[in-house]
Amino acid sequence: MKAWIAKMTEEQIDYQAVEKAGKMLLEGQLVAFPTETVYGLGGNALDAEASRKIYAAKGRPSDNPLIVHIGRMEDLERIAKEIPPSARALADAFWPGPLTMIFPKTDAVPFETTGGLDSVAVRFPSHKVANALILAAGGFVAAPSANTSGRPSPTTAEHVIEDLGDKIPCILDGGMVQIGLESTIVDFTEKIPTILRPGYYNQEMMEAVIGLMRMDPGIQNESEHVRPKAPGMRYRHYAPKAELTIVQGNTAHVIEKINDLAQKNCALGKKVGIICTDETAERYPMGDVKSIGMRSDEETIARHLFGILRQFDDDQADVIYSEAFDTPRMGQAIMNRLLKAAGHKVLEV
Ligand code: TXA
Ligand code: MG
Repeated sequence: MKAWIAKMTEEQIDYQAVEKAGKMLLEGQLVAFPTETVYGLGGNALDAEASRKIYAAKGRPSDNPLIVHIGRMEDLERIAKEIPPSARALADAFWPGPLTMIFPKTDAVPFETTGGLDSVAVRFPSHKVANALILAAGGFVAAPSANTSGRPSPTTAEHVIEDLGDKIPCILDGGMVQIGLESTIVDFTEKIPTILRPGYYNQEMMEAVIGLMRMDPGIQNESEHVRPKAPGMRYRHYAPKAELTIVQGNTAHVIEKINDLAQKNCALGKKVGIICTDETAERYPMGDVKSIGMRSDEETIARHLFGILRQFDDDQADVIYSEAFDTPRMGQAIMNRLLKAAGHKVLEV
């Protein structure tokens, strides 16, 4: 199978193509589509067979639940129950947008979609192509990120084609996404709303709306014996093929350490990749040096992260050294993904 690819932008939506893709979803087929965070691999969330197809196409373990995407606020009650006032407040503030919330599920949602759990993750994306597609598909689209399980999430349609181009019938190409990291996930089945995955909206921004929240202890320190609650956060993920190490500390020391390691590895005949920023790029004389953007521009850093990891796969790097990106607002989300990609290998200098 070779995917039919329909190109469009948020400003100029090809409604005919979207209608056709919506019909494909209603018939139980899969369609990849852009959202503001990353590309999603969509299937009808109320159709158990479609969810099975999603797991098969991604090579994803079937106990790792899918996020159900809605296109209208009033559809939330069809799939979720026991929605507390704090969740409504968060929805009013941040939906449509890069926020996913978890509630007890209704009977409308098959267990195939929720990986056997009796809770459901719900997101109302703001991307206009995503919204049009969800409405054309009857309102409920299950969509994990549209990558092969274990690879970095796709931020362009080309990434989706690389991973799934011969496994699914249709890809809506909306160009590069805006945010580049997956949505923030908040679990409302806990007494205190719990962040299961950091994202564009951080704890402080959400606490300003609903008061006290907590961070899932399992994602703060994965070397401890506590496991992340979101099944998908337990796997090694976003992993480039090369061995990735994060070098953290004072800038001058970081540069010195990375240059030292690059020299040693080059001498061994290895292909070395370096992930740095515009400010430091010229200070690395050796290796395949890629700047992720300006350190002061964290939105750009977030947008480029997964794409850079994929580029190093294409360039067949053997080892990669990366600076750390503890930026003020999205730093926790960026470092969560980078640490997972590195299998938590960090050198403090
Ligand atoms: O930004 C996003 O959220 C993207 C776009 C496509 O919307 N989607 C996405 O889906 O990142 P996925 O499947 O790659 O990640 C979903 C995460 C997984 O870690 C999964 O384990 C967790 O959400 N999850 C889903 N339902 C859950 C539930 N009921 N309880 C706990 N964790 C859940
Ligand atoms: Mg994913």
